[in-house]
Amino acid sequence: MSPAAPLYEPANTLKPVAPGLWIVDGPIVRMATPVGGMPFPTRMTVARLADGDLWCHSPIAPDDGLFAAIDALGPVRHLVSPNKLHYAHIAAWKRRYQQATAWASPGVRERASSQRIAVDFDTDLAYAAEQAWAGELDQRHFRGSRAIEEVVFLHRASGTLILADLIENFEAARFGTAMRWIARLGGVLDPDGKMSLAMRFTFRERRTARACLQQMLAWQPQRVILAHGRCYLENAGTELARAFRWLA
Ligand SMILES: [Fe+2]
Repeated sequence: MSPAAPLYEPANTLKPVAPGLWIVDGPIVRMATPVGGMPFPTRMTVARLADGDLWCHSPIAPDDGLFAAIDALGPVRHLVSPNKLHYAHIAAWKRRYQQATAWASPGVRERASSQRIAVDFDTDLAYAAEQAWAGELDQRHFRGSRAIEEVVFLHRASGTLILADLIENFEAARFGTAMRWIARLGGVLDPDGKMSLAMRFTFRERRTARACLQQMLAWQPQRVILAHGRCYLENAGTELARAFRWLA
């Protein structure tokens, strides 16, 4: 097993990305690989909507300090699972913010049930931006795989594309030698981060996926937030075209 990767310090702390938009770097989770558990850093995104409500994408494992910082920012109204792999901590957030709506992504209810993780989802994400955030956050289902579908978002005011697993971009310095090779083989090593090879193989409906990519490019994002690894804070269009060249 590789040595533990360092956290993106400080963890569980709101970090401003743009006006009304923050990221929070969270704990490491481990994903099974042939040579042991790959340390995955986790990250959530928080947007403050025009009415002051907070929209939380891919909520990380919370602690009291993070809850206090969030409380100072505004009322949590939306807890968003962008895909069926990013949902497990919504339960803890929902316990704290019982008035919040927990939004389900395609397949997440079945996944949670199979993993015996109880999450009380309120409703499903639609194919267009929800009324609660229409005009502020654009929304699109990235489809083309029967294994996974991710709902992607654009924070319009800042031109920020918010992704979970569609691109992973791990810095080599954060891994030991074995994990570095695994990441390189999987195509997820910075500076050439992409969707993991295993997930790419499931995208058989290329035309559908290409249309989703074209939509993301048409949004002309200024930056891209990722859930795992180094975000792209500039040259977003170039980075997207590079990361998705496997779809060409
Ligand atoms: Fe993930």
